[in-house]
Amino acid sequence: MKQQTKIHPSLRTVEWKNNTVVMIDQTKLPNKLVYVKFTDYKDVADAIRTLVVRGAPAIGVSGAFGLSLAALQSKAKMKEKLLEDLEKAKKILFETRPTAVNLAWGLDRIMQVARSGKDVSDIKESVVKEAKKMAEEDIAVNMQMGKNGSQLFDDDDTIMTHCNAGALATVAYGTALGVIRATKDSGKKIKVIATETRPVMQGSRLTAFELKHDGIDVSLIPDTAVGYVMSNGLVSKVIVGADRILRTGHVYNKIGTYQVATMAKQHNIPFYVAAPLSTFDLKSNPKDVVIEQRKASEVTGVAGKKTAPDDINVINPAFDMTPPELIAGIITEAGIAKPPFEESIRKLFESKL
Ligand code: MRU
Repeated sequence: MKQQTKIHPSLRTVEWKNNTVVMIDQTKLPNKLVYVKFTDYKDVADAIRTLVVRGAPAIGVSGAFGLSLAALQSKAKMKEKLLEDLEKAKKILFETRPTAVNLAWGLDRIMQVARSGKDVSDIKESVVKEAKKMAEEDIAVNMQMGKNGSQLFDDDDTIMTHCNAGALATVAYGTALGVIRATKDSGKKIKVIATETRPVMQGSRLTAFELKHDGIDVSLIPDTAVGYVMSNGLVSKVIVGADRILRTGHVYNKIGTYQVATMAKQHNIPFYVAAPLSTFDLKSNPKDVVIEQRKASEVTGVAGKKTAPDDINVINPAFDMTPPELIAGIITEAGIAKPPFEESIRKLFESKL
């Protein structure tokens, strides 16, 4: 009998409840599953900046919820003044994290709804409605992506993933881990290898936590063991999420993804990316994409303990770019893009028009 994937209520990453944004505090995982509540959009901006909530689709929806809070917080009596307040809040939310394109997408979608509102009360009502709709759509899109992607995976596959592209990186279910969940639910026996993903350990803290929570067989490896496990024939396929995908198929994802993809190519292991259409940026070129640089303390310590000398120079980019020639396919809710990507990505978008 096929097992149904449980979306445990505790793994609903972000939610709108009674005019409050409720999130899992991911900085506390895996030790504590705690929720934080926000009624001020500036606190939502802080939560995005400090990785209380993270993962491209989750921050897209969190941004939309944040902007909805800003609408409710505004004392404006006239539409024009409310739009001004929203533009200010949008800027603060937008500047929290520059690389994942879903944040801009979520904020723009709310602004569009706000601009077309009749008056202040109509705007307040319609932006909240739209943000809630975006959260529900995120789950539906992930489940469709899971269904589409599961056909690429076989019985007895061992699938490597990097970072966390799971329920915790989305509203629920996940992108790359959504495909893994759907593959398991289709009756195939699979195992997962998760990289720990230094420096802030989204692999060991989040991916290992959520797969274990769902009863999926997962082994954790240090990032430095990717070559070892691949060269020893322990990996059949790789799947990761994405923070931004260009029309050419250049994929921006958590730092280290490029190394995993290069190693996969070296060992003839198919490397797949799963991401919703909201993660695509069809306008930018690689030189336009800002790679977020994070603070040195993420690298100079582990779990609050200093592991490097004082005043050491640190380079700590949060993301890297994987070129299209290393990618076997990009799984979306509209289908799977295969190389050459410029053409296949264009076709996916045309099919959605
Ligand atoms: O810095 P993070 O934790 O926000 O980075 C997240 C990632 O890079 C994920 O792999 C990506 O957002 C895909 S999430 C479905």
